Amino acid sequence: MKTIRFANLPGDGIGPEVMSVALNALEKAGEVFNFECITTRHDVGGVGIDNHGKALPDSTLEACRSMDAILFGSVGGPKWENLPPKEQPERAALLPLRKEFELFANLRPGNLFPELADLSPLRQDVAGAGIDVLCVRELTGGIYFGQPKSTRTLEDGQKEAIDTMIYRTTEIERITEVAVKAASLREKRICSVDKANVLETSVLWRQTVSELVKKLDPSIELTHMYVDNAAMQLVRDPNQFDVLLTENMFGDILSDELAVICGSLGMLASASLGTGTNSQGFPYGLYEPAGGTAPDIAGKGIANPCAQILSSALMLRYSFGLEDAALALENAVKDTIRSGLRTGDIAMGGDSVSTHEMASAILSRIA
Ligand code: IPM
Ligand code: MG
Repeated sequence: MKTIRFANLPGDGIGPEVMSVALNALEKAGEVFNFECITTRHDVGGVGIDNHGKALPDSTLEACRSMDAILFGSVGGPKWENLPPKEQPERAALLPLRKEFELFANLRPGNLFPELADLSPLRQDVAGAGIDVLCVRELTGGIYFGQPKSTRTLEDGQKEAIDTMIYRTTEIERITEVAVKAASLREKRICSVDKANVLETSVLWRQTVSELVKKLDPSIELTHMYVDNAAMQLVRDPNQFDVLLTENMFGDILSDELAVICGSLGMLASASLGTGTNSQGFPYGLYEPAGGTAPDIAGKGIANPCAQILSSALMLRYSFGLEDAALALENAVKDTIRSGLRTGDIAMGGDSVSTHEMASAILSRIA
């Protein structure tokens, strides 16, 4: 029997509730598809600050290093909101993890099931048939990490702050490669997003993406779009896109736009993949739902577990090569939604079930 080893970092808010049912779903998938999960739980985020004085405690980082993947819950909440930005749970946990494991490739699938189309803020003639767009975001470069990055006081007493947007060809190439692979399993269309009318990094981005896509797979339809236009097109007609390829900050912004037009954050998963391979010969990765900690409903047992379960499916697919099991989890979620079962966030005022009822319905469909 195959063994898979990953660290689970539930974090804050609804994180622990949805993590616990996602672990049950993984165990069930293991019974059906013949693998065993070895996983240890570690503090991260606000609970890391409370228990260890740090959003990413050393012991958590150490544990992640000894595993093949990270299943992440979500971090943050009102309790830690007044900390200085650098110490906030989200930033102080996620950015160092991305840096440490060189998680350069962020896959954010934007999926809206047709059954849930009413949840989208877009008009029904635009979103009624569902949405299926994959955002591939570069995650370890650009203005997030570029040096210099600092604030100083000038001679006249004014302050001046600087962030540096910087990209080199190898960074652009490796994320392009991920987008090409992803597109080849979908509709084979990539729209690369940049601001090449203004930014040097974007000129290099556009040129590098063009050359590499042509070289890797000339059958892929590649287009380029300025980021401001992409923001507009995404609400006008999201399904004109198949794969959106973006640098770090543009992807941060567009992936939130994609998430909101998909109606419920409770349904969206994501994967952040690293360079090199884990002990299983697959990329090391961090897998997390898009939704956040939902402090208003934390502890009530009513959170939507779908995004955490779908994130587990991405982990099985990308970090462990268990495609059949990943598909089974995804189909179990889809079938459960089709059956009409809803947690409060997606019930549109109708009947709703608890996290556990939703999860058991999903578990019973894993086959
Ligand atoms: C995200 C978040 C992070 C980002 C923040 C919390 C640092 O917004 O994962 O999109 O900007 O990347
Ligand atoms: Mg963001």
